Amino acid sequence: MTQSEKPAANTMWGGRFASGPDAIMTAINASIGFDQRLYAQDIAGSRAHAAMLAATGIITDSDAQAIREGLLTVLSEIESGNFTFRTDLEDIHLNIESRLTEIVGDAGKRVHTGRSRNDQVAVDFRLWVRDQCDAAVAGLTALMHAFLAQAEAGADWVMPGFTHLQVAQPVTWGHHMLAYVEMLGRDRSRFADARRRMNECPLGAAALAGTGFPIDRHMTAAALGFDRPTANSLDSVSDRDFALEFLSASAICATHLSRFAEELVIWSTAQFRFVKLSDKWTTGSSIMPQKKNPDAAELLRAKIGRILGATVALFTVMKGLPLTYSKDMQEDKEQVFDAADTLMLSLAAMTGMVSDMTAQKDTLKTAAASGFSTATDLADWLVRALGLPFREAHHITGRLVALAESKGCDLPDLTLAEMQSAHPNINQEVYSVLGVENSVRSRQSYGGTAPDQVRAQIARWKAALA
Ligand code: ARG
Repeated sequence: MTQSEKPAANTMWGGRFASGPDAIMTAINASIGFDQRLYAQDIAGSRAHAAMLAATGIITDSDAQAIREGLLTVLSEIESGNFTFRTDLEDIHLNIESRLTEIVGDAGKRVHTGRSRNDQVAVDFRLWVRDQCDAAVAGLTALMHAFLAQAEAGADWVMPGFTHLQVAQPVTWGHHMLAYVEMLGRDRSRFADARRRMNECPLGAAALAGTGFPIDRHMTAAALGFDRPTANSLDSVSDRDFALEFLSASAICATHLSRFAEELVIWSTAQFRFVKLSDKWTTGSSIMPQKKNPDAAELLRAKIGRILGATVALFTVMKGLPLTYSKDMQEDKEQVFDAADTLMLSLAAMTGMVSDMTAQKDTLKTAAASGFSTATDLADWLVRALGLPFREAHHITGRLVALAESKGCDLPDLTLAEMQSAHPNINQEVYSVLGVENSVRSRQSYGGTAPDQVRAQIARWKAALA
């Protein structure tokens, strides 16, 4: 290749280069294909930076004004689809700066004074992830309200509670719904907490060491809604722990969604029939006319794979990186974008599905009484009424369960004589604890399944979310 055939050197940083990059280098190096999603954050950051440069006398007021107005023109070009993103300009930062300079001339060349793309991308990405934390909190709040509405409607409906997916003890529908409210409430606090921690502004760390220009980092931090500037320039440009926190919180949240999704898949089968999912969240089969498939639930069960994949990917990118910025870190964005999109869609879909599902009260009640679900109540009664040690009561109850099983009946169907064959002091009163309604009503311990407890927790959550 002769000198004249070499690709032209980059217009933004090509001073020391005799030629431009190989086409394949451009392809692997450029991030504009995805980081254009940061355009609004990039423009907000540059506008704050320009205002600060003027306030500190580093550039003139008229240059700052030209920059700030020119950036608004760029913003409207991008938002109206009239902006040409150029791969040869690598990323969103150089694309916007280049276009700004085309629009406002020399003033545009001054916007990069006292900063670097390293602190620029750090601030842009933080702003973006911060917005996603807010979106996650809002999405979770809506979903919690959907679960609370279900809990309120069925605060005293009985259903089987499971361990090992075997019937364990009767619980209330409201209580089961509230279990998810608790999980989602912790998810919500994780996003809020991560947001608080990430809310420090890295802008002004410059390439890595800070800058000799008399910048005012407190001013830019305040203008961008941060609590304060970050306190170490090396850390500012080199950590992505805020993104890792967002991904980790997303992965935990998606795990919770996946668990309820699995319950919906099971509960909507012909074998269970605990819930009817609405037509809005199910699909039909192209060959089997009777089918109503819980596709949304199945997809929500699966989405965690993608979100956890993104989480693992970014941890893997970040581990072992020496300080400070390395280009490896450009691999942060696609993972976070995809995980955030997936999470927001998942929260919206789950909210719709939970709002529209119909619990089958009668089926739940019948199932609640199956599988000797009140055996623990019987054992507890033997302790309370007959003063037996619990271990002995457990054994006697076990014998009665075995007897009922051999007869093909349930515990309340045993005669008093049969009961007394296990312990002679058992009397008629025992039947009062074998009903599932009595069972759940008796579980009055704090956080227990009794309808009164459920209603108290619903009220607490409603006040907390108001
Ligand atoms: N596109 C880059 C990224 O996403 C921006 C920072 C580039 N900095 C640099 N020194 N090349 O990480």
